[in-house]
Amino acid sequence: MLKLRDLWISDVEKLVELEAKLLGETIGSEMLANEARNPLAKFIVATYAKQVIGYIGGWVVADELEIINFVIDPGYWHQGIGQKMFNRLIEDAKTKGAKTICLEVKENNQRAVNFYTLQGLKKVRVRKNYYHDGKDAIVMMKELL
Ligand SMILES: CC(C)(COP(=O)(O)OP(=O)(O)OC[C@H]1O[C@@H](n2cnc3c(N)ncnc32)[C@H](O)[C@@H]1OP(=O)(O)O)[C@@H](O)C(=O)NCCC(=O)NCCS
Repeated sequence: MLKLRDLWISDVEKLVELEAKLLGETIGSEMLANEARNPLAKFIVATYAKQVIGYIGGWVVADELEIINFVIDPGYWHQGIGQKMFNRLIEDAKTKGAKTICLEVKENNQRAVNFYTLQGLKKVRVRKNYYHDGKDAIVMMKELL
C-alpha cells in the first residue's frame, strides 16, 4: 500500500542512489539529510509495502514554492503516484502561504516536462548551462489559486 510521509534520515541513502541512477546527478546525502531538519523545507517520501520508492521536496520562500527534486522508482511510474506526491506538496505549501510554484527541469527531460505541463506549469525561461553536463534548465511556473 502507498504511504506518503515526511523524510527521515534513514531514507537518505536509498533516495540519493535512486536519484543518481535516474537523473545522473544528485543533491547529495549531506544536503538531503539537512533538508530533513530544515524548517523551510518540505520533503515527502513515498513508500510502498514499507519500501522507500521516491521523494519530492521543496522550499517555501516568501510566497513561492521552489520544487527542489522529484524522483520515483521507475517500477512505480504511471500509476498516479507522482500526482499524489505533487498534490501533497502543493497543499502543504499553500498552508505556508505559497502563491506560486517554480522549478527547473533539464531541457531533454521530456517525461518530467510533460508531467509538469499536465499539472498546469508553463515554461517561462531557460537557464543556460545550468546542469553539470552543460545542459540547459527550463524554468516552469504556475500561480496557485
Ligand atoms: C516525473 C515522475 C516523478 C512522474 O512520476 P509518475 O508516478 O509516473 O507520475 P504519474 O503516474 O502521476 O503521471 C505520469 C504519467 O502517468 C499517467 N497516469 C497517471 N495515472 C495513471 C494510471 N492510473 N494509469 C496509467 N497512466 C497513468 C499520467 O497521465 C502521466 O502521463 P504522461 O506522462 O503521458 O503525461 C517520474 O517519471 C520520475 O521519477 N522521473 C525521473 C525523475 C525526474 O525526471 N524527475 C523530475 C526532475 S525535475
